[in-house]
Amino acid sequence: RGAAGSARDLAGRRVVISAGGTREPLDPVRYLGNRSSGKQGYALARTAAARGAAVTLVAANTALPDPAGVTVVPVSTTEELRDAVHKAAAEADAVVMAAAVADFRPASRATQKIKKRDDREPEPIALVRNPDILAELAADRPAGQLVVGFAAETEDVLPNGRAKLARKGCDILVVNRVGEGIAFGTEENEAVILEAGGAETEVPHGPKEALADRVWDVVARHWP
Ligand code: CTP
Ligand code: CA
Repeated sequence: RGAAGSARDLAGRRVVISAGGTREPLDPVRYLGNRSSGKQGYALARTAAARGAAVTLVAANTALPDPAGVTVVPVSTTEELRDAVHKAAAEADAVVMAAAVADFRPASRATQKIKKRDDREPEPIALVRNPDILAELAADRPAGQLVVGFAAETEDVLPNGRAKLARKGCDILVVNRVGEGIAFGTEENEAVILEAGGAETEVPHGPKEALADRVWDVVARHWP
């Protein structure tokens, strides 16, 4: 399956994958969210499991079948995703952040449903920054653990990707080209895999499973 040729080339490895998109509650019935389906993260989980890895999939608001043989941890908010990923990462050989994490959350959460009023315009929604989970993982990790990020870029894909890889401090950044029907919610993806050492692997437009296999090939190459 992988470039290494062996069908079980990830046997004995533990990997953690985040998938989907986080949601930040505004009140008991509303949230700020994004359009990530989780399909790329699930493809990473299925391919890693097929190649013999022990897989924990931290799934944020997805509506996809649990991959066979994978430990699925459902979460919703960024805080929940952060706790679950850090917990699972303590024992992992690789962590792949495929989830779309909300950059901001409402500064406060209304305990009751926000009501509209006829006599005035709505209040603006104050936002605060969320922690950068990928940067946290990269900054503080067990020896030998690979940290992989994903980035969706709509313009200046390569320069933005290289700058982001450096800023995050991760080992590998998979940069998706988005827009014009690629990536969000679709079955296919097109990407370039950037490594901290400078290597770049172009992955042509194709199934998310194929991109997932190329990501594991690169990860496996880095492991001691
Ligand atoms: N990420 C994260 N925590 C955040 C935001 C992003 O762990 N608070 C991770 C994502 O899971 C992804 C990577 O960082 O693996 C890149 O996400 P992206 O949104 O492209 O990066 P940002 O630094 O948020 O930059 P931008 O301003 O372009 O959104
Ligand atoms: Ca972001």
